Amino acid sequence: MSEGSEHLLGQPEVFMETMDEPRYKKPSKFQQVLIYSLFALSAVYMMICLLTLNQRPPQDTYAKTATNIEIVETVPDILVQNEYKRLHRETYLAWLDVINRAESEICIAAYYSTMFCVNTPTNICKDYAAQVVLALQARSDAGVKIRLLIDGNGFGDFTDIDTYKQMFLNFEVAYMNTSALFGGVQHSKIIISDKKRFYVGSANLDWRALTEVKEIGVFIEGETEGAEMQQVFEQYWACGTPERNGVITLKQAEKKFKKIYNKFNYYNPLHINDSLFYIAQSPPKQLAQTRTHDLQSIISQIINAKTSINIQSMDYSPLMIYTKPQMYWDNIESELRAASIRGVKVKIMIQENTYNPQLYKSLTAMKNIELYFMKMDTLNEENGWDHTRLTHSKFISVDGNSCVITTSNWTGDYFTNTQGTSIVLEHSALCQELDQVMNRDIGSTFVKKYL
Ligand SMILES: *[C@@H]1O[C@H](CO)[C@@H](O)[C@H](O)[C@H]1NC(C)=O
Ligand SMILES: *[C@@H]1O[C@H](CO)[C@@H](O)[C@H](O)[C@H]1NC(C)=O
Ligand SMILES: *[C@@H]1O[C@H](CO)[C@@H](O)[C@H](O)[C@H]1NC(C)=O
Repeated sequence: MSEGSEHLLGQPEVFMETMDEPRYKKPSKFQQVLIYSLFALSAVYMMICLLTLNQRPPQDTYAKTATNIEIVETVPDILVQNEYKRLHRETYLAWLDVINRAESEICIAAYYSTMFCVNTPTNICKDYAAQVVLALQARSDAGVKIRLLIDGNGFGDFTDIDTYKQMFLNFEVAYMNTSALFGGVQHSKIIISDKKRFYVGSANLDWRALTEVKEIGVFIEGETEGAEMQQVFEQYWACGTPERNGVITLKQAEKKFKKIYNKFNYYNPLHINDSLFYIAQSPPKQLAQTRTHDLQSIISQIINAKTSINIQSMDYSPLMIYTKPQMYWDNIESELRAASIRGVKVKIMIQENTYNPQLYKSLTAMKNIELYFMKMDTLNEENGWDHTRLTHSKFISVDGNSCVITTSNWTGDYFTNTQGTSIVLEHSALCQELDQVMNRDIGSTFVKKYL
């Protein structure tokens, strides 16, 4: 190496020159004013930050998370008589738990109400629905307020509501014209008391849902989760009117419900010990500011699936079934097919049906996708025993780690215009319980694999 190049590398002259310069120039008057104002501004900003920090809820608000999360189910006796085990607390017992412990308010969101089992043998009715209605009456007598939100266009009749008005002292009903507001029906099933404990699941406010229909739901006890669910209910309440033919426009409803605040969603789930929780909803038009669409929850779980996907629904189809004409809707199915190609084992169990066999054939032609139909021996359909002996459970469980317990049938309509509520969990123990439900069910004599 020559001396010259060594010199260049070190650049001693340049170094010396800069050393001769004064290190700092004295700032001008203008620069001084600028610097002092910046200091002052940041001090004010820090003060504001500190003040707003103090306004945040105290840490223990977040610590009051669930003390109990439990899968609950209805299993018709006919299944149990055929070597099939109930794995969880029964739906009506969870409802009684929610109701009996109420001290100030019980809120119920339902599609319709048919809780009085008439003209039906008592071994079929059992007295479960009657126990629930009597428990509501007892709490009402003790001063607890009862609010019921129901679809105003109805299914069956509204005679139950007249009976409730007679039976319950402090009772309010709101009818939601869901078809006028969103184009679908109010399909969420929620019972919540004192904003602290609630049931969400597939069971309608119907004696059948407590005895003769297979249902899955979740019972959660916790102030933070309860407060979140109460917000969903208040959002619905804002869409209802006290008269069955009352009119509220979507704009008027939105004005109220868009302000309804919730803390937890897909991007910000609630941490419960080692698990994650949030509530998701349908339809998109009903989403309050920070709520997650349940379709997004389901699809994100499918996209992340590595080994297994178990799905139960009453109905499944890559179609919008209630539009005329029907429309192809493969938002979920295309992700299931993608998962199957990654080697994920997909199992779907639904109520037996006879429509669109070609769609099912093309689905089960995929490697790793199995479809199962459940069909229980039916009750005599006379005397109002229709809509019994069906599977109505709705859930997805992925990799024994994440799951969604929902109220939607799995066809496009339920995600675009039907009002539904889902509980989204990352909770291995609970999601694995759903896998056990799936394994038990597809092993039943009433379940056949679709070819
Ligand atoms: C979370 O952990 C606490 C403390 O161990 C326990 O009391 C609580 O039941 C747990 N919650 C759930 C939902 O498992
Ligand atoms: C719901 O709204 C539609 C459209 O405005 C109306 O035709 C229907 O009668 C309403 N239903 C009830 C129960 O008021
Ligand atoms: C869910 O799907 C089944 C099968 O298509 C249908 O009979 C039932 O009415 C659907 N539920 C509702 C609330 O539309």
